Amino acid sequence: NLITRSAKTIGVLVPNIGNPFFSTFIRGIEKQAMKSQFIPVIFGAENDPDVERYYIEELIKRTVDGLIIASPTVGQEEMDHLLDKNHIPYLLIDQNPLNAGDRIETDDKTGACLAMRHLLELGHRKIALVFPKEPSDNIMRRYQGYCDILAEYQIEPQEDLLITTELTKKGGYLAAAELVKTDATAVFAANDELAIGLYRGLKERGKKIPEDYSIVGYDNIDLSQYVDPPLTTVEQPVYEMGKIAFQKLVERIKEPQKEADEILLPVKLITRQSTRELK
Ligand code: RIB
Repeated sequence: NLITRSAKTIGVLVPNIGNPFFSTFIRGIEKQAMKSQFIPVIFGAENDPDVERYYIEELIKRTVDGLIIASPTVGQEEMDHLLDKNHIPYLLIDQNPLNAGDRIETDDKTGACLAMRHLLELGHRKIALVFPKEPSDNIMRRYQGYCDILAEYQIEPQEDLLITTELTKKGGYLAAAELVKTDATAVFAANDELAIGLYRGLKERGKKIPEDYSIVGYDNIDLSQYVDPPLTTVEQPVYEMGKIAFQKLVERIKEPQKEADEILLPVKLITRQSTRELK
C-alpha cells in the first residue's frame, strides 16, 4: 500500500521564511519536487536551535526521505545524532556552516568584490558595510571581500563604517541612525532586506539615494527592482539553487554511498539606480 512505500517527503529548514530570498529558494525546490511527485515540508525556525531540533526530530518520526538545510543553527551534533544515525540524506546550503556531505554555495567573496569595485569605480572611498551582528559563514565571506577590496585600493578600514545590526529590514532601518553619523558616501549592505530597511531610515532623516548615499544590496530579491530608486545589487541564482538542491538531494536519496558533491554557483552584479558617481 501507499503508506508503507516511501513517503516522498523532504524537509526544508530555512532561517527566515519572511525573507523573499528564502521564498524564491523554496519556489525552486517546489517546482522541481512537483515533477517527481515529492512534497516539500518547509520550516522557518528563526534561528532557534531548540525549535529546529524539534522539527528535525518530528520529521524523522514521520519518515522524511531527506532534508535541505539552510539554517545556520543546525550543527554537527544534530547531524551526527539525528541525521546520520537515522540514515537521513541531507544537503547543506547558504547560512549552514557545516562541511559534511553535499553542499551548494554561491561565490560570496566574489559577490562582495563586485559590489565594492562598482562603488570604487564610481569614485566612492568612504564605503560603509552594514551586516549582521552574528554573521553566518557565507556573510563572513562577503565581509572578507569588502576588506580585500579596500586593501587592494589601499584604503584603511574605518571602524565606524562597519555597522552591525540584525539581518532584517528593521535592522537596516535602525542602521540608518548610525550611518548618518559617519562620513560615508556609499553603503554595501550584506543583503537586500538590510538595504531596503536603510532606504526608509535614510528617507526619514531627509537623505536621498543616490544623491547622498549610493547603496548596493545583495541577493536581488524580487522586491529590489520595485523600490525607489531600484536597487543595485548582487544577484544570487536563488531559484536555480532551489532546483539544484532538490535534484542533488534526490540523487543522494537514490545513491546514499556516492561521493559528496560541492557545487559553487556564480553571482552577478545588477546595476540599477541606487548607485551613482561621487560628485
Ligand atoms: O537574504 C538572506 C541572506 O541570508 C542571503 O544573502 C542569503 O545568502 C542568506 O545567507
